[in-house]
Amino acid sequence: MERKKVTTKTLKKMKENHEKISMLTAYDYPMSKIVDNAGCDVILVGDSLGNVVLGYENTTHVTMSDMLHHTKAVSRGAKSSFIVSDMPFLSYHTGIYDAVRNAGALIAEGGAHAVKLEGGEEICDAVRAIVNAGIPVVGHLGLTPQHINNFGGFSMQAKTEAAAEKLIKDAKALQSAGAFMIVFECIPSELAKRVTEELDIITIGIGSGGGCDGQVLVLYDILGLFDDFTPSFVKKYTNLNSIITDGVSNYINEVKTGVFPK
Ligand code: KIV
Repeated sequence: MERKKVTTKTLKKMKENHEKISMLTAYDYPMSKIVDNAGCDVILVGDSLGNVVLGYENTTHVTMSDMLHHTKAVSRGAKSSFIVSDMPFLSYHTGIYDAVRNAGALIAEGGAHAVKLEGGEEICDAVRAIVNAGIPVVGHLGLTPQHINNFGGFSMQAKTEAAAEKLIKDAKALQSAGAFMIVFECIPSELAKRVTEELDIITIGIGSGGGCDGQVLVLYDILGLFDDFTPSFVKKYTNLNSIITDGVSNYINEVKTGVFPK
């Protein structure tokens, strides 16, 4: 039997019922089908695709056209999961007109159900305008990879009391601007728990402990497919890299030795 479509209403109900929300990235049709069929609540077409499928050093090189291309493929593969698409670097910073146009394209052309933006108070005008256009918005605070050139590396954020207060202020500003969910990346677990208690909207953690309403990870990390680097908080559930290498090596060997084709 086909799973019921996950909507913002379903996700809000899950939070109310203290039912944990599962979220994983996907970037293409076959993986989207697998993640959807496995029953994942939310699929994130993350701009992490810049690192894990396009081979860029960081996400600042990802474009709207990259995001549209991959969001279309994912939305063709998923029948029930709720699809969130990342707004890429600079697609929501040059004014609310651009922000709404670009968010609208990810929904209308891409087939996503919501968009995700990185940042706090400074992006709230864009968030408000996108929400007013009828598009659900997900925030992203803590380690925000589009700001890598400011951070100078990937490390735990909001470790001081002042930084924690700023993060809570940013989260509340996003909530007031109309965001219905926020991803907290690499913040201390006590802070993730505290901000979850203080907010009415859904919180999703990554590298931030178990206190949020749900969890997200990069699919290719948990499958052991992407091995350029693996964040310390990742749990690998299988090792596709070696499974694929074995399959490919067997094929090469059989072609060379004449075992295949018969
Ligand atoms: O781009 C992405 O995959 C993300 C997650 C890591 C939260 O933003």
